[in-house]
Amino acid sequence: MDKNRIIVLDTTLRDGEQSPGCSMNTDEKIKVALQLEKLGVDVIEAGFAAASPGDFDAVSRIAEMVKNSSICSLSRAIENDIKQSGLAVCKAPLHRIHTFIATSPIHMKYKLKMSEAEVIKRAVHAVEYARTFVDDVEFSLEDAGRSEISFMKEVMDAVIAAGASTINLPDTVGYRLPTELGAMVKELSDFAGDRAIISVHNHNDLGLATANTLSAVLNGARQIEVTVNGLGERAGNSALEEAVMAIKTRKDAFGDLYTNINTKEIYPASRLVATITGVEPQQNKAIVGKNAFSHESGIHQDGMLKNQETYEIMKPEDVGVYKESNLILGKHSGRAAFRDKIVHLGFDKISEEELNTAFEKFKALADKKKDVTDDDIRMLVTDESLNHDK
Ligand code: KIV
Ligand code: ZN
Repeated sequence: MDKNRIIVLDTTLRDGEQSPGCSMNTDEKIKVALQLEKLGVDVIEAGFAAASPGDFDAVSRIAEMVKNSSICSLSRAIENDIKQSGLAVCKAPLHRIHTFIATSPIHMKYKLKMSEAEVIKRAVHAVEYARTFVDDVEFSLEDAGRSEISFMKEVMDAVIAAGASTINLPDTVGYRLPTELGAMVKELSDFAGDRAIISVHNHNDLGLATANTLSAVLNGARQIEVTVNGLGERAGNSALEEAVMAIKTRKDAFGDLYTNINTKEIYPASRLVATITGVEPQQNKAIVGKNAFSHESGIHQDGMLKNQETYEIMKPEDVGVYKESNLILGKHSGRAAFRDKIVHLGFDKISEEELNTAFEKFKALADKKKDVTDDDIRMLVTDESLNHDK
């Protein structure tokens, strides 16, 4: 494994789906999963297979369709959860089971009502059982941010010996400051050495999720768990677009560290997730918000006209944001204008056949809807390439 490579695990379809109002049906989840594959995500956490028959079906169908990203399903440290995950992910060429149990004093005492010894026993059994289905097992110490280092070391030793190859340290309630989280990751990644990859999963309760993710990377974490648009429980998770673009943009700080993300697919992924969930990123959201590349003040506009780098540290096109084309599409628009628009939106590899069918669907929509928006067109084209892959 390349020591400079940062593995990106996207959990939009699991933790992201846990955001109020963000649940998705199976077809919608498949669309998001295929876009995550296009984005170059290494591991797609496709859901929690044991949560419901619908979740099981969604994870299994994603596992059948995605070829280039590993498909993972979350499971409590309970045999049936692990079994459902194993059965759902095994259809994917690359697959993983992710299992977890809480290790903080408050969770063990009040939620689990278990002693430290019982937690270790359950964790070891979960990993051993998961290994009967797959070779790649990730283990999470839930609420690691509020767990004791000495106990986490005991748990890590035990689950690594049982066969876990990734150890995830979630800051489940978004409690840690970047300096503290960095120190915890440094100590535990030195402790793990070459025995396991250290991963982080940061929540945003204090608005520090991405700062914590970056601090963890600088201190030895080699997997980051993130979501598109920062969706997730409560205040959300560390946003994929923020962590990836910080690592790419700040080469001076991150040196040779890199991700495999095709950053030009970031904005299309953000739009797809926003359109499907109906949850828009805030206007001033870093990277993907409506204002992220807009300049209002005269001084800024003047600087931009002289040199774009005066007020932009990233090129919008590097994250797939293209200046709005002036072409407004409606029922009188022709095929050439439609093609121009979709190329402009970043779909430059569409086949003639897909273009023709998408154009017919566009005409049908334009008959019903006065303003066909860029998001409508993105959905039409995404639907078309999806049908084509079936
Ligand atoms: O926030 C959390 O602790 C989680 C784990 C189950 C990975 O989502
Ligand atoms: Zn979480």
